[in-house]
Amino acid sequence: MCGIFGYVGRDQGTADIVLRALKKLEYRGYDSWGIAVGHGDQVVVQKQTGKIGEAAVDLPASGIGLGHTRWATHGGVTTYNAHPHLDCSRRLALVHNGIVSNYRELREPLARAGHRFLSETDTEVIAHLLEECLAATPAGPDRLATATMTAFRRLQGLNAIAVLDVHTGQLAAAKSGSPLVLGWSEHGHMLASDYSALLEHTRRVTFVEDRQAVVLCGDTIRLFDADSGREVAPRIIEVEWEAAATELSGYPDFMTKEIHEQPAVLRRIAGGWEGHARQLAALIHEARDVFAVGCGTAGHAALAAQYLLARVAGRRVTVASGSEFPYLGDFVGDRALMIALSQSGETIDVIEAARAGRERGARIAALVNVEGSSLWRMADLAVPLGAGPERCVLATKSFTAKLAILLMTAHALAGRADAGVALVRDAADEIERLLTDGRRDAIRQIAEALHRREHLFVIGRGPSYPMALEAALKVKEVSYIHAEGFAGGDLKHGVIALIEPGTPCLVLAPRDETYDDIMSGALQVKARGGVLIGVSPEPHEAFDYHIPVADLGPATAIVNAPPAQILGYYLALLRGHDPDKPRNLAKSVTVK
Ligand code: AGP
Repeated sequence: MCGIFGYVGRDQGTADIVLRALKKLEYRGYDSWGIAVGHGDQVVVQKQTGKIGEAAVDLPASGIGLGHTRWATHGGVTTYNAHPHLDCSRRLALVHNGIVSNYRELREPLARAGHRFLSETDTEVIAHLLEECLAATPAGPDRLATATMTAFRRLQGLNAIAVLDVHTGQLAAAKSGSPLVLGWSEHGHMLASDYSALLEHTRRVTFVEDRQAVVLCGDTIRLFDADSGREVAPRIIEVEWEAAATELSGYPDFMTKEIHEQPAVLRRIAGGWEGHARQLAALIHEARDVFAVGCGTAGHAALAAQYLLARVAGRRVTVASGSEFPYLGDFVGDRALMIALSQSGETIDVIEAARAGRERGARIAALVNVEGSSLWRMADLAVPLGAGPERCVLATKSFTAKLAILLMTAHALAGRADAGVALVRDAADEIERLLTDGRRDAIRQIAEALHRREHLFVIGRGPSYPMALEAALKVKEVSYIHAEGFAGGDLKHGVIALIEPGTPCLVLAPRDETYDDIMSGALQVKARGGVLIGVSPEPHEAFDYHIPVADLGPATAIVNAPPAQILGYYLALLRGHDPDKPRNLAKSVTVK
């Protein structure tokens, strides 16, 4: 959570460089933002609550700057709590991504020593702690690096910190858990929470590993082991993504763009991922036990993997949410395979689950969209999703990409790889038709009819159950309607008590062995006055609204995802919400 960006170099327009980068990182948290630049012997700061939007910087020219976009953990959404935070002398400006679990113990002696705290944050404590460490560190070229490592070693928790020191004209940073990437360019050097903010300047990056520290100045970057202080050689790699891929490209928002990119993403996977699918299938084949782990939408993809591998390849998969895995993991053994699913590759609960599995001898296969991310780097087999940058907080194309790769893997495992490829191609064609043949507008009309409702349910059976959970998540996280997904068979065990006249219920009814049972559940909802929205290849007299979607056997799950994405989108617009940055959320969950 939170986005960090820093620049030091020849360009005196640093404040604007930092502002543009923060806009790229804003999906990591948008409660407030702030920028500090060096000016003479002091830092000058501008910070504001809320989203950046069309805000402009009002800061002096400078060749060094540091910025932050916040997802609040400690202290309310105020300008006082917005980052950067300064030391008493206004020499240092510090930003932070993470949680300092011992901040109270650190703050007391600092307060007794006369440091004045202006905010409620854990972060401000680090700025004053660093001030103390700097004062205690002898002058010299490595003074800031040494002081930063000393202060960092005193922090407990998962953190990335970055500081601007106007006296040395350097940036320094250190990290453990929260992500940090360095950018190498002709005109300057940068640090950022993820490389989407660096692409405007460079594709040459260095991923900072846990317990490493770094110091940046105009002409060089130096990397250190933060515990020993020993210098280490930075590894520079060239990332695939282009800056243009992170732009709106004429779409009104990223949610619409990324929903519309799904056919092309699926065609790319059908055309080029057979090798990846075969590799993953081979690992599954060799493993005694297979676990699939993910959070949120990635957790729903993990659950979909359970149905796909059972039904297509007759292979059992144990599924766990990343945050619950540590409480389940004792039965992971040395011949286990963990399939860890994550768009960002930075979700701390999934990273820690993978780490716990590895400690017990499991092999880690990761399906990740952000190449080079923490989960990507720790995996034995890293499978890219190939979805391209996903900037809307809601996962859309990264979800259908995961389903497509899992479907191809299940078919490769069953010795029918070609059939898997063909199904993904068919899914791409069907989604393209759905987006262009008027069905999207039909879904908008359904949203117009339903957008004043405060509750909505989604039911599905078998492989449609994970899709029901995902459909409900899409609706609730963007429209704030309280939507719940259920296994169709659970209705009579309590849920149906929530149905009252007018309650909308999305019914996922593909023409497979679940059809009759899910329709009888739907009719029971209808009997209590529920309003049925059927997502099904065929109309049914019970449907108040019908969204026709082709029946593609095991690929039906893929084509059943976009209708709920589109419904959620229009419900959000009709209720006046930002589809790209829903309240209280962030694109990558790096704190617990
Ligand atoms: C989905 O729309 C949400 N953004 C959220 O549930 C997300 O799927 C979850 O936080 C996992 O993120 P990851 O795929 O980056 O690990």
